[in-house]
Amino acid sequence: MKLVAACLAAATALAPFPMAVAAEIAPADVKYDGATITTSLTGTPGNPEEGAKVLANRSLGNCLACHVVTPLAKEQFHGDVAPSLDGVADRWSAEQLRGIVVNAKHSLNPDSVMPGFYTLEVGINVRKDLVGKTILTAQQVEDVVAYLVTLKDAK
Ligand code: HEC
Repeated sequence: MKLVAACLAAATALAPFPMAVAAEIAPADVKYDGATITTSLTGTPGNPEEGAKVLANRSLGNCLACHVVTPLAKEQFHGDVAPSLDGVADRWSAEQLRGIVVNAKHSLNPDSVMPGFYTLEVGINVRKDLVGKTILTAQQVEDVVAYLVTLKDAK
């Protein structure tokens, strides 16, 4: 068994492409192109159903605390301090939406009250246990973007 594990480890190290684990972009390595992030953070397509759960989950996205999303209205009472996300895919591309979710202060408004969900630049008084952590994982960001692109106004 040990030998097999060692051989697998060696094969993984030598492989030109990572096999099991898709390359995930670390928060500090995220590259903006203006306000957009053109490359997927994970290389794995987002899952819109998972994304909808992240939006509604108070300890994850908690997006509904600030945003109206009519298809999720039954999930939770939602706030209205922020623009409704209904039809948001008609206003922004997937690449722009990724930029906004990763760090709205970078891509929308430097004074935004919207949290940066995949950035370590979250302000000065960060709880010690949260230093170096992002609110969402890279895959959760991709899931959220996959859900947001489904929000088109039926016109
Ligand atoms: C604390 C409140 C708050 C939370 C939580 C929040 N946002 Fe926002 N969001 C805002 C505000 C305010 C704006 C408007 C731009 C600005 O002034 O920053 C905004 C703008 C946006 C926009 C651009 C909308 C448009 O039509 O221009 C998108 C997309 C967005 N938010 C997505 C999300 C998602 C997805 C989440 C959860 C992962 C989220 N927001 C969580 C406050 C919030």
